[in-house]
Amino acid sequence: MASEHAPHHHPGHGHGHDGDHDMTEMLDLDAEVASAEIDALTARIAELATTVVRDIIDVGSGTGTGSFALLRRFPEATVTAVDTSEDLQRHLAAAAGRHGLAGRIRPVRADLDAGWPGLGPADLVWASSSMHHMTDPDRVLRDVRAALRPGGLLVLVEMERMPNFLPAGFGDGLEDRLHAAHAEARAEHLPHIGSDWTARLKAAGFTVHDQHVLTVERVAPLPHEAVRYAEATLRRFRHSLADRLSAGDQATLDGLLHGGLAGRDDLTVISNRDVWIAGA
Ligand SMILES: C[S@@+](CC[C@H](N)C(=O)[O-])C[C@H]1O[C@@H](n2cnc3c(N)ncnc32)[C@H](O)[C@@H]1O
Repeated sequence: MASEHAPHHHPGHGHGHDGDHDMTEMLDLDAEVASAEIDALTARIAELATTVVRDIIDVGSGTGTGSFALLRRFPEATVTAVDTSEDLQRHLAAAAGRHGLAGRIRPVRADLDAGWPGLGPADLVWASSSMHHMTDPDRVLRDVRAALRPGGLLVLVEMERMPNFLPAGFGDGLEDRLHAAHAEARAEHLPHIGSDWTARLKAAGFTVHDQHVLTVERVAPLPHEAVRYAEATLRRFRHSLADRLSAGDQATLDGLLHGGLAGRDDLTVISNRDVWIAGA
């Protein structure tokens, strides 16, 4: 779940193979690296569920991180995976086939900005790093609530900042500048990022049952997939933030990426995402 689109990316409209490929890879590697924490979250959802979870909607499903984790947790469930991106839906459908889950995932291509595509009723709606992409998240939250059965749950996950990978002080604070540039670019394109989701949930009629921070922390030396996650994320920064970085920072980043991160034993992963579990 939960890494972030480049600010200039419009879902469904690729802008060069590098960016789209990096994003898909980054989402999949994020799922791999954070799988234990995501499984702990689905266990918490199972504790809070008061009804049998059969029908799940994954809002902005991406490569299917949430869909697959929820299918693992809820053996009787099927997932409707909604996304506007054809590429990501194809990727998700192929992964579902590989895992023998094609019969339990229904990909639906829809732009939720255009309205709710008549989905439901559902026992559980999962929206991870997708709600801030919506033009009018309040309307989508109301539609989600209307789609939930009595006793149904919405799980909202939002990542406010990108993960940290580099040792403190590396490149004279390079990662801090990357995050600042990313946040600045994102704020221009995604005005709802970092908004008061608790208030928005309540305004849409939800009751928040649980709110916590999900932390993913891996110490050095990182396993292979976590190094690849760091590399995909930093490469994505290199492409999407080029016009916001100094020549010096670009050169340092190029050195890191071309030198290969695989040989480094000083990388870490630290990321936080906010989680709300709310009742309809
Ligand atoms: C940062 S990704 C998160 C993907 C996945 N939920 C995860 O946690 O890995 C955001 C997803 O929301 C989708 N999305 C953005 N705007 C959308 C819209 N208006 N309607 C449907 N999906 C949308 C994007 O295509 C993308 O797959």
